[in-house]
Amino acid sequence: MVFWFGVDYYPEHWPRDRWAKDADLMAELGFNFVRLAEFSWSKLEPKEGEYNFRWLDEAIDELAKRGIKVVIGTPTAAPPPWIIRKHPDILRVDPNGVRSPEGTRRNYCPNNPNYIMHTRRIVEAMALHYRDNPNVLGWQIDNEFGIDPCYCDNCIKAFRAWLREKYGTLENLNSSCGFIFWSQEYGDWDEIFPPRPPIDMQNPSLCLDWHRFMNDSWIKYQQVQIDIIRRIAPHHIITHNFMGLYKELNYFRLAEPLDIVSFDYYPRWGLSVDYARSAMAHDVMRSLKKKPYWIMELQSGAVKTHLAPIPRPGEIRLWTLQSIARGADGVSYFRWRSCRFGAEEYWHGILDHDGIPRRRFLEVKRVSEDIRRIASYIEGTSVKPSVAFALVYDNIWAWDLEVAYGGKNYYGLGSWDPALDFYRALYSKNLPVDFADPSREDLGGYKVVFAPSLMLMNRLIEERLRSYVRDGGILIATPRTGAKDWNNVITEMTLPGALSEVFGMNVEEYSGLPDNGTVTFETIEPSFGSGITGSGRYWAEMLMPREARVLAYYRSGIYSGKPAATINMYGRGMAIYLGTFPDPKFYSVLVDWLIRRAGIKPTLPPVEGLEAVERVSSETRIIFALNHGEAAIQFPLEEECKEILSGEKVKGLIKIDGLDVKVLKPLD
Ligand code: GLA
Ligand code: ZN
Repeated sequence: MVFWFGVDYYPEHWPRDRWAKDADLMAELGFNFVRLAEFSWSKLEPKEGEYNFRWLDEAIDELAKRGIKVVIGTPTAAPPPWIIRKHPDILRVDPNGVRSPEGTRRNYCPNNPNYIMHTRRIVEAMALHYRDNPNVLGWQIDNEFGIDPCYCDNCIKAFRAWLREKYGTLENLNSSCGFIFWSQEYGDWDEIFPPRPPIDMQNPSLCLDWHRFMNDSWIKYQQVQIDIIRRIAPHHIITHNFMGLYKELNYFRLAEPLDIVSFDYYPRWGLSVDYARSAMAHDVMRSLKKKPYWIMELQSGAVKTHLAPIPRPGEIRLWTLQSIARGADGVSYFRWRSCRFGAEEYWHGILDHDGIPRRRFLEVKRVSEDIRRIASYIEGTSVKPSVAFALVYDNIWAWDLEVAYGGKNYYGLGSWDPALDFYRALYSKNLPVDFADPSREDLGGYKVVFAPSLMLMNRLIEERLRSYVRDGGILIATPRTGAKDWNNVITEMTLPGALSEVFGMNVEEYSGLPDNGTVTFETIEPSFGSGITGSGRYWAEMLMPREARVLAYYRSGIYSGKPAATINMYGRGMAIYLGTFPDPKFYSVLVDWLIRRAGIKPTLPPVEGLEAVERVSSETRIIFALNHGEAAIQFPLEEECKEILSGEKVKGLIKIDGLDVKVLKPLD
């Protein structure tokens, strides 16, 4: 297999006579691809209609001479000054009517007809120019799409049309969103404006629809570019660089029309690296298409020096191998050489500003050797978890709107937290997770599904969860499940709404736990283990079991003595409802129980600092064991394996040095 290994390169930042040297050094690192051109519109088209591809052709040739192919970034993330001068209306407008600044990037409106016209022109010209170049692998569309809402007249008009398409009639719109509240009933589509801050004084349904509309706008804008490239160069691959746990766009939908998801991975942000969080970001990226992805930007130096210090020796290698372990089939570092000018003057690359190869270069060279050894073993493999987390982006957006009301909502502040808390317990026991959107995909292949507070419910999600449990799955849910309809309006059903039957209980009453308040609870269910205590935070629901058995009672707080968690047999499966957000220790107990009960199997036994994950296919199994700490660790290995990096046969107690890794192939 070809493992795509390379770097993000900006030849336009450097003198022409340096390019050959750069290409030589890249070849020395074993690179076989480079991403380039993504912010170079002013060089590709210095004046309207005057294209200049010569420099890029030469750069591609220089690389091709060393066997290095390219992924070309479409340059639309940074509009050149002449477009802005000619069409100042392409700049986004903020809620107060102020236009985005010139001279930066990501400052354009996705619904602006002039910008879309220029986008079409440049993408078409590039696709035509490069479709027959054998050194071009494909394209990265734009750069790191974000929600970036725009309140310009084009967007307002398009929003009205979007609402009309969705609701059909004003009567339907008014009643579905509850516009009777505060006299907001619309008598004409042109009376509608996007909700402006303060958001807590606005209609939650309209706020959510506005977010959905902007999400759709970016997906549509991406599609404009994809359509052109598919028409002109159908043999090329198309990707976009995603930002891991960024949550403002529906990444499942953004990924759908792409061939490959790629991930910009910056693990060190601040002094420490949160490895569970990093692993979760990888798991989300792999899950978007349920297949291997690429890293398009992997941190290879300090970021702004004070945001993120320089990677410690061994970390670049570890992050690369961690990416592969979690399912990456390509890795590109950000960036080749630290740039001397521009807003990212302190965003360091493999080389420093002076262009001299030092320890980070040598480290990448070492990784290159590792990858050469590993590549054939991981061919056709991916990570195949037996646990899935339900991920519904619309639901996250609805949570975040609730944060606006009180600075907090029912789970505290971070919208990934309900997922991350449970993820940490799985991560520490070396159990990977898939993220699945139940409104898009079947859950039947997973032994356990964790549904973190799926407040926003629709028929499809409800049906998927119900049939998942009925057919034998284990479902675990947290507070507010089923509390709202898809329009972000609170249900009139008794909670957990349409899923009450599946959970076999109702929520009798609930209370927020402000000021970092907590409640304690104790398990009483023998099959789970009784007498296990835990604490809950943010929110507490008092549960009223019907068919369900009580799993735990509150032992303190307003609901002391009342049910805090329930467990229900439904069909051939089981539905667990947690009425509060448990502490990490309790989640750890829950995972141990799942390991016994659901037959999910950790890749390796838990050891502090160890991340173990395996890539599998029908023929093979490759175990990656990574030590993220500075000190050596040991773990027991039951089966005899070949350690691929050293070629040795190993079994028994295995030692991994600090910031090192073992790649193991079972020998049976
Ligand atoms: C992002 C962008 C890059 C660059 C890096 C800096 O990921 O895609 O263009 O700005 O951050 O870390
Ligand atoms: Zn706009």
